Order: sequence, then C-alpha cells, then structure tokens
Amino acid sequence: MPTQLKVSPGTGADIATPSLDDIARQKLADLDRRQLRRRLVETARTDSIWTVRNGRRLLSFSCNDYLNLAQHPAVKEAAIAAIQRHGVGAGASRLVTGNHPLFVELEARLARVKQTEGSCVFGSGYLANSGVIPALIGPEDLILIDELAHACLWAGARLSRASVLPFRHNDAKQAEALLARHRHRHRHALLATDGVFSMDGDLAPLPALAALAGRFDAWLLTDDAHGIGVIGGGRGSTFAHGNKVDVPLQVGTLSKAIGSYGAYLCASRPVIDLVQNRARTLIYSTGLPPAAVAAAIAALDVIERDPAYAALPVQKAKAFTQMTGLLEAQSPIVPVIVGSAEAALHASALLEQEGFLVVPIRPPTVPEGTARLRFSFSALHPDAEIERLALLVRTRILAQ
Ligand SMILES: Cc1ncc(COP(=O)(O)O)c(C=O)c1O
Repeated sequence: MPTQLKVSPGTGADIATPSLDDIARQKLADLDRRQLRRRLVETARTDSIWTVRNGRRLLSFSCNDYLNLAQHPAVKEAAIAAIQRHGVGAGASRLVTGNHPLFVELEARLARVKQTEGSCVFGSGYLANSGVIPALIGPEDLILIDELAHACLWAGARLSRASVLPFRHNDAKQAEALLARHRHRHRHALLATDGVFSMDGDLAPLPALAALAGRFDAWLLTDDAHGIGVIGGGRGSTFAHGNKVDVPLQVGTLSKAIGSYGAYLCASRPVIDLVQNRARTLIYSTGLPPAAVAAAIAALDVIERDPAYAALPVQKAKAFTQMTGLLEAQSPIVPVIVGSAEAALHASALLEQEGFLVVPIRPPTVPEGTARLRFSFSALHPDAEIERLALLVRTRILAQ
C-alpha cells in the first residue's frame, strides 16, 4: 500500500502519514541494508543430524539436539504412547485442568537430577525466565545480570521492574564491585547468569558467583538450557565444577539436549510453591502437551543410563577446537567470531557449499561486531565429517 493522505485529528489539515505496511517495509529495508534481515527457511530434519534445506541435504551443526534424542526411538515411542493415553493438548493452564499426570513424574525426575526439593515445569525456557524472575523480584529490588545472558533472562529482569545492572561477561570481580556499591539500597538482590552461554559456549564462574551471592545476601539464578544432559555428568553446570555449587534457582530447558520442548525451575519446596502461585507465564498459559512431557522423561532415562553417550558432544567439540586451534571447548557450543554480519553470511554460505549447515548468528542476538558462526556438536556427528569441517574452518575461514 502506498503512503496514504490522512486528516490529522483535531486540525483538519491533510498530512502524509505512513501506513503500517510502509513502516514495516522501511524497517525491513533498513535490516536488508545492514545485512541483518532474517528469514524463515524451511528445514526438514530427516534424522538427528541431517537436514534438507532449499532441496539440499546438509549435515547440520546448528541444532541444539546435542544428544540426538528428538529422534531416539524410545523417546518417540514415549511421546506417541502419551498421545494415545492423554491426547494431544493439555486443554488448559496447569492450575485449571491442564496438569495431566505426567507432570508429577517429570518434576520428581528433574528435582532428583538437580538435587533440589522440587521443580516446576513451564511451557518453554522463555516463559520460565520471564515468569520466575518477576515472581520473586520486584521494583524495590536489584538484579545483577551477565551482559551476555540470554534474551529471556533480560526479559524476566525487565518485567520485574527491579533495578537491573549488567556486569561484564563472566566478570565476578565487577559483579562484586557492583554489589558492594548498590546492594544496601535494595530489599532483595538476584544474580542472574546462563550456566553455559548459548552463543559463546563458555561456562559461568559459578563457584565465584555463589560465593558472592552468599556474601551479599543475593539469590543466584542460573539458566542451564545448554548444560543439562551434556555437562557435569548430565546434571548440568552446577555439577561441572567438582562439588555441586549452591544455586538456589536453577532454570533449564527441555528443548535442547533433552530433545523435547518446555522448561523447568528446580528449587526448594517453598520457592516452587510460591512460583506456582505467582509466575504469570505458568498461571496464564496452557500446560505443555503430554507428548512433550513424556518425551522429556524418556530422554532423562537415556541420559541416566548412558553417561558415556552424554559426554560425547563435549568430546567432539573439544576435538574440533583442537583441530582448528581455537580455545578449548567447554561445552558442545563453539563460536567462530568473524566480525561483520556480511562476513558471517559469507562464511556460512561457504560451508553450505561444502554440505554443512552452520547458520550465521548476527546482532542483536550477539553484540555488534561479533557476528559469528556457532557450531553445535552432537553425539552422532561422524568424526570424519568433523575433521573435514575443521579443515575448512582453519583454511578458508580463520585464515582470512
Ligand atoms: C540460554 C537459553 N535460555 C533459554 C532459551 C529459551 O528456551 P526455549 O527455546 O525453551 O524458549 C534458550 C534458547 O532457546 C537459551 O539458549
């Protein structure tokens, strides 16, 4: 639609007001100009590592299904059985009639894995973080958050209307200085971080952050979306530092190594009970479908039964970083930072020509000037293909 002439209310004067469509087009043109426009590309995951895009079969290093459990026969069977028994959808919020029997089993399992008194399952990781934080923290409080924490931790922090202070990535010293300066002015304080950073693959310094939380009477919240299943013997990042670190609020997702969908908070019983009463994203959102919950339970079974399998994604990521000369991987995620959005698009296209799918990650997902390829390794990636990929990255991308 072209720009329309509209009468400005109250003046009777004709002024040109761009239409909604005009504004959308202008914003899209701006994104195009900055190489930041994104498009949904149909991607069929034919098995756990191969995808079909634009008619081509590509080996994907862009899925978070680190243990390939989304296609595991026992996990699929559990989901199908749950549909047969309980139907396709939950039908209501969990607090109304959507709390089907599978939730109890999954929550008990998660609490056991994380060694907490209880857990509460949410519809997704985004819903968990944007519900849990405002349920516990309010306008008089303080939130210290790692600058690279996932967007949904930021969303929860903003929704809480607390004072939000970012600290430099993984810089516990700066977090300490901020707490020393600001903590006394606030009722409660929350220290929020990813356990494994989604775009960088590094681990948060949890022992140091837990010590700070203790000293300054702050509550430590970790988002372990990329830790559960693959780090700390499958239990996640709180178990990756020798002894279990004291983290009273452990959020994570069921959508990555667990291969399903949904998320959880693991915490003490009173905190879980409070969250069930106060988290708006739990109260006012339909419960997860039975199939997703049953699949998550079956996936946890596989992980518990086979810790050697669960360790493979990190081993494969480490082999890749060794072959490419990058910093040693700490998780299944390895970033190769190329700088501009254009360079990231170009590097991704180059790998695609060679049969690999490695989606470029651009701002605002990552800070300006740090566009990258983000490689995620899974247990079933063939070693020979990792070697071929490493050679390409070393000679055609890092050598530029
Ligand atoms: C660290 C982190 N937290 C939360 C989420 C959101 O989880 P979900 O996809 O279940 O909404 C993601 C990614 O999706 C993530 O990387």
